[in-house]
Amino acid sequence: MIGWEIIIGAIFYISPAYIANSSAALFGGDLPIDLGKNWRGKRILGEGKTYRGFLTGLILGSLVGIPLYLISNNFEILVLAFLVSLGALLGDIVASFFKRRIGLERGSPAPILDQLDFVMGAVVLGSLVRVPGESVFIFIILVTPIVHLTSNLLGYSLDLKEDPW
Ligand code: CTP
Ligand code: MG
Repeated sequence: MIGWEIIIGAIFYISPAYIANSSAALFGGDLPIDLGKNWRGKRILGEGKTYRGFLTGLILGSLVGIPLYLISNNFEILVLAFLVSLGALLGDIVASFFKRRIGLERGSPAPILDQLDFVMGAVVLGSLVRVPGESVFIFIILVTPIVHLTSNLLGYSLDLKEDPW
């Protein structure tokens, strides 16, 4: 059974990661993190991972921690929001690294990986301060691909994003 505590627990845990990830997509651009460099004939990360995306994602994702902290009155939530945002952005970067290694061009779809890379990174770093409960974790893994695909489709149809995935 899905109870409210699972849904609310998931929102508290993962919403900074959602905001970090979508802010990077909305506000990213310019200088790529890999500075355009190649490794073994292929881009290290590609043009889709930029400093501006990383920094805006980290800042806006961490800021989500403020209302969550005020609601919960728990300082750990602030630290969690920062770690979860950082983890989301790093998870996405690690996925791009592997996408380039297997020869996938920037922006080409990698089903499952594209939808879950950032939440996996978020949970790994978030677990430094709080390991999510099993049901919350499963809920996050099941719901995120749906939220991710829906919001990307929306971003694409509003011309905010280059591709629909
Ligand atoms: N973005 C960014 N910096 C980041 C992450 C994302 O600037 N650290 C922006 C880029 O404009 C990117 C968009 O968000 O194109 C969507 O992100 P994502 O789908 O993760 O990147 P892709 O362009 O699909 O590249 P890849 O194939 O490497 O995943
Ligand atoms: Mg993509």
